[in-house]
Amino acid sequence: MSLRALRVAVPLLCGWFVAAAIGPIDTSTPSLPGGNLANAAPPGPFFQDFKPPFPTTGWWVGFAAPPSQNSVVAGPFPYMSAALNTGLQFGLSNNRHFDGTSIIQTTQMDWQVSYVENPNTNTSHKTTGWDTQSVTIQYFASSGIGFETFLVPGSPYITLYYHTATILLTSENGNIQSVNGATVTSNPTSFTGTKFVVTNSAGSYAIYSLGGAVTLSATTSTLTGTTTFNGPLRLARITNETTSEAILDEYAATYPTGVSLDYSFSGDNATLSFAWNVVGTGTPLLHLSWPHHRKHLVSPQYVSGLSYLTTKGYMKPVLGNTWHLSYALPTITWQAPRAPQASCTQQILEALEYEVANLAVAVPGDFYYWGKEFQTMARLALVADTMGRSDLVSSVISVMEESFAYWHNGAPQATYAAYETGWGGVVDGPGASNVNIDFGNGYYNDHHFHYGYMLHGAAVIAKYDSAWWNANKQFITTFARDIGNPSTQDPYFTVARCRDWFAGHSWASGIANGGGTRDQESSGEAINGYYGLLLFAEILGNQDVINWARLLWATEVDAVQSYWHLYPNSNDPDTPYPEAGLRALTTIGNVEDYQAGAWLFWGSQRSEIAAIQMLPVTPINEGLYDAAWLTGSWAYVANELVDPSVGDEWKAVIYMAYSEVDPQTAFQRSTNISAWGGTTSQTLLLYHLATRKNPSGQNICTATASNPVGNFTIRAPNGKFVSSTAAAPNLVATATTGTVFSFAYMPGGGSILNTATSQYVTADPNGVAPLAAARTVAQAWETFKVVQQTDGTYVIEALVNSAYVILDGSGELVNNGTLAQAVHFTLVSH
Ligand SMILES: *[C@@H]1O[C@H](CO)[C@@H](O)[C@H](O)[C@H]1NC(C)=O
Ligand SMILES: *[C@@H]1O[C@H](CO)[C@@H](O)[C@H](O)[C@H]1NC(C)=O
Ligand SMILES: *[C@@H]1O[C@H](CO)[C@@H](O)[C@H](O)[C@H]1NC(C)=O
Ligand SMILES: *[C@@H]1O[C@H](CO)[C@@H](O)[C@H](O)[C@H]1NC(C)=O
Ligand SMILES: *[C@@H]1O[C@H](CO)[C@@H](O)[C@H](O)[C@H]1NC(C)=O
Ligand SMILES: *[C@@H]1O[C@H](CO)[C@@H](O)[C@H](O)[C@H]1NC(C)=O
Repeated sequence: MSLRALRVAVPLLCGWFVAAAIGPIDTSTPSLPGGNLANAAPPGPFFQDFKPPFPTTGWWVGFAAPPSQNSVVAGPFPYMSAALNTGLQFGLSNNRHFDGTSIIQTTQMDWQVSYVENPNTNTSHKTTGWDTQSVTIQYFASSGIGFETFLVPGSPYITLYYHTATILLTSENGNIQSVNGATVTSNPTSFTGTKFVVTNSAGSYAIYSLGGAVTLSATTSTLTGTTTFNGPLRLARITNETTSEAILDEYAATYPTGVSLDYSFSGDNATLSFAWNVVGTGTPLLHLSWPHHRKHLVSPQYVSGLSYLTTKGYMKPVLGNTWHLSYALPTITWQAPRAPQASCTQQILEALEYEVANLAVAVPGDFYYWGKEFQTMARLALVADTMGRSDLVSSVISVMEESFAYWHNGAPQATYAAYETGWGGVVDGPGASNVNIDFGNGYYNDHHFHYGYMLHGAAVIAKYDSAWWNANKQFITTFARDIGNPSTQDPYFTVARCRDWFAGHSWASGIANGGGTRDQESSGEAINGYYGLLLFAEILGNQDVINWARLLWATEVDAVQSYWHLYPNSNDPDTPYPEAGLRALTTIGNVEDYQAGAWLFWGSQRSEIAAIQMLPVTPINEGLYDAAWLTGSWAYVANELVDPSVGDEWKAVIYMAYSEVDPQTAFQRSTNISAWGGTTSQTLLLYHLATRKNPSGQNICTATASNPVGNFTIRAPNGKFVSSTAAAPNLVATATTGTVFSFAYMPGGGSILNTATSQYVTADPNGVAPLAAARTVAQAWETFKVVQQTDGTYVIEALVNSAYVILDGSGELVNNGTLAQAVHFTLVSH
């Protein structure tokens, strides 16, 4: 396609160059309880020719995000760039290092490309269109277009098309040292030709004119055209491989201006296609691939001798104007593909009954935490269904419906959904003017995390209550469009908001902070976002949307296995992380565009870093948890798994994921926990373990001793009874007639209730303060194991710190002993 034809093909006020392969999920005007509002970060003049919806999460959003549209963005890889008023700056990091936690490639600008007539205002450059991977920027003046640049990820060349404008290239990395091997000085020297090699402190770049010979006047800071120029100009970093310059020479005449994304499905296989819009017919397109591409390319024609080291590893060239990448799609939908093993069913039922009876209606305070609870309830309903307990399914669904109904209230409530008109999307209304609300949801952060949980829960309600679905379908569909719109024909939502199709995964970052560096640290929640979309699609019953959701899921998982899971023992020469020291850390916590490392914004424990890539654990994730990664990360977190100061909520998640390899060990370890975190529960844990492939074929669950249940007084060995009153709630063994305590089942152990005060006995996680009957509800700190000894007495273990109850000097009960030190109590039935 010629450049002119391409420009004519751009429809007015719609920046997208191409339509994706399937149609929109819906095109109706969003009607949300919070109405329409604009967030406090409107797009800048970059989008002056267009109206929303705009991309908010891709690599180049920093070109358009406020306050100044001048962020350095990571891309088009292998380069990083900034679209400044003065021109397009770009560079390629010479400094990749491992600091013990992360590999980092510091930002670096090498050159600015511009034209002499540039008015240098912030309205004199704009986009003329974009697609699922690339964006075109035009720099212009009142006299006409200066140049256009097609920023296409994967191209080793930065390509500019000049329109009767005077080339102005400025070194951003030290002085220009030489042109074509000749030293340059501050006295201008002219060079004429169609190719130049220029060297500054960054290294050498080849510059190609595809518009005939040009004359450039060189000083130590600039290369300036001596006349105006028409036609393409390309710049590419020459690498230190001796063959790189010749390869760049050979393929310089064919350049990409954009790319069409397409996909096709055959049963459970998908082919994802990138078809570049290419100008030039003499040679095929030379385009760089990343490791995850090379795992999936169908019949690639590689060229060796040119490579660029990026945060995702070496980019290496492939020849061809179209790539086809094949992926296997997930086949799991609602339930695990196996019935729960019989050894576990009794314990699953016991936990299920308790958890359903104790469900509380979650009142939304935000999307994120509410969504986790909502999905967790939904999974309980699915387990109840598998266990043949339709009575419990109905109980869960009615609590979920009550919780969901709050979303219809709109603004009187603390949080509500609204349509954001500046960029086009569903946001947390109060968050539209406050980036600190709901993790920046109003600035388009984390939408796939948040809405995946909601879609998942809503799909489960719909599965059991079609009347509810009919009443809520429109509302729910709005969230599916926000994160999973497949088509440019949806007038209200950008295509697959969070997905970076060339990087192969999603970004969590939206337009906050100038839309600069991208990150994603909860890869498990990203994957769950597309699982939610898949379950929504199942309810919709639309096979196209089902396949689209499966493709999003499969590609996200593959990228997570490529860039978040580390394999210390791998000798794969194509690893993205050649640094063995990084791979020894077993899990990347945060993949960013300039760095990737074993750290999180919010936590530093190894268990946290691993668990946030695993959660929420759902049946479909057996396609995510590969054995090599699980085995390596299990060894790496081993010390933390036996450390009582590490939260059970992380251990629970790790045990669940690890059950893919060894469900027996996972079960034994999990008998110890009393907190499951926001995304799972004892029921879900047991169900997950019970439905694994179970390589050994052995029983997964074993009978665990259960606490005595009933009303008892508690007698210490000295004959005194334990008492606790409203005025003095601490438990102390000094009474002659004790308080009556009610012992009941709880997941993991049991609770102890003071029947006189109706307060649950709670334990200090530090094992310092005495036990006290001081809580109205029983949760993790109120969970005890009461274990009978051979002589008929009982020892009491507080699960919150895995310590046994002993008596202090004044006879108070304290959870501070070992099993050997544990006081042996007698329980007297009442
Ligand atoms: C553009 O420049 C004008 C005038 O200097 C300034 O007021 C405005 O804030 C700038 N806008 C952006 C998005 O940089
Ligand atoms: C080429 O550059 C890479 C990264 O910049 C470096 O690791 C490698 O040692 C260099 N090779 C040579 C031959 O200089
Ligand atoms: C799917 O891909 C697998 C592995 O490449 C292949 O064996 C199988 O025949 C394919 N199935 C279909 C329906 O194309
Ligand atoms: C229970 O937890 C403690 C520390 O949290 C650990 O030392 C102990 O080995 C665990 N027991 C089992 C059976 O996992
Ligand atoms: C335990 O005592 C409470 C309060 O006296 C009473 O309501 C409850 O029914 C008793 N439970 C059992 C199992 O006896
Ligand atoms: C026991 O108490 C001491 C302080 O008195 C504390 O340092 C220690 O951690 C406690 N042990 C347990 C197992 O909680």
